[in-house]
Amino acid sequence: MTGSARPPTTATNDSTDPAGSVTMASTGFPELDALLPRLAAVPALEAAALEAEQVAVLGRKSGLLTAALKSLSSLPVDERKRFGAAVNQLKGQFEAAFAARAEALEAERRRREAAGLDLTMPGRRRWVGAEHPVTRVVDEIVGIFRELGFAVATGPEVETEWYNFLALNFPADHPAMDMHDTLYLDTPPAEGEPGGRLLLRTHTSPVQIRTLLAGPPPVRVVIPGMVYRNDAIDASHLPAFSQIEGLAVDEGISFVDLKATLTHFARRFFSPATRSRFRPSFFPFTEPSAEMDVECQLCHGRGCPACKGTGWMEILGCGMVHPAVLENCKLDSERYTGWAFGMGPHRIALLRYGVPDIRLLLGGDMRFLEQVGRPGGTDTGGVDA
Ligand code: PHE
Repeated sequence: MTGSARPPTTATNDSTDPAGSVTMASTGFPELDALLPRLAAVPALEAAALEAEQVAVLGRKSGLLTAALKSLSSLPVDERKRFGAAVNQLKGQFEAAFAARAEALEAERRRREAAGLDLTMPGRRRWVGAEHPVTRVVDEIVGIFRELGFAVATGPEVETEWYNFLALNFPADHPAMDMHDTLYLDTPPAEGEPGGRLLLRTHTSPVQIRTLLAGPPPVRVVIPGMVYRNDAIDASHLPAFSQIEGLAVDEGISFVDLKATLTHFARRFFSPATRSRFRPSFFPFTEPSAEMDVECQLCHGRGCPACKGTGWMEILGCGMVHPAVLENCKLDSERYTGWAFGMGPHRIALLRYGVPDIRLLLGGDMRFLEQVGRPGGTDTGGVDA
């Protein structure tokens, strides 16, 4: 077959491009046939590739077909004619394919422009979400206790006086039960419901009671949740804040377990060399009771404004579960002992990140959150640096 024969059309034709009909029949010359796949690929080229291909095939200096035409003079007359015709025909086909493709791309560009789409505009930066510092602190604390075999328990934020105070061995006239300290609900408790008035729980400790009533020891739980107090907002107080309670009750549990576990916790949460200390304290539901301090994370014990020069930061209250609490939960306090702690993740976030004002944790100010947040696990990637 020669180049002048009309070959059957096996067009690889873009339907939006009526001029893009491309023939793939053999030219009779292998060196020219080698270009046929590239001819067939023209209708799919994007603008930059199209331009490069035009130079590569038809370029005046080193275009492949230009070079083929230049080689004609070295051929015998007969072959020169046939080869020349084949080259010219292929050149015509390339020219037509390039023109058709350029026209199609231009039409597409105009369509986009009319639709208000400009693909040359720079992309918009995608926001990477980050966990809120308090969420992060809660997750880490819960994670450390889970490693130690503690389960997670939760309880209601609306409680009765019995769960929040009385079962925890608060005397009925304790000042914490005062309206000035506690937010009571106007709603009366359901008919026949024991437990006194309804209130927003002031701590997560009532979930100790709920857990101990739910089933016999051994019990090891951590209890994250929100708590509420009748406090005005200032740099170190919020009327609604988070707590994490911990409770371990079993036979043979002693203060050694409390100290060892909480010391381990502080080293895991802050840093392996973190020193801690226990100071005597008082809670109605623990005996003995203590406050735990860790070495100030900002000055490492030297003393700075954040720790008021003491070198220590208070992180939690704790103690051995009071026998009266166990008895209120129908447990034999001769057989069972336990320890409990309560800490405030909002407070701990302040200490850990050196944040001077607790209100920053509520503000949603991205300049603050971006400094202390941890990139969230939900991002799908593809983010600008
Ligand atoms: N519930 C106490 C508080 O809110 C903290 C605490 C919990 C203390 C458990 C001892 C044991 O201050």
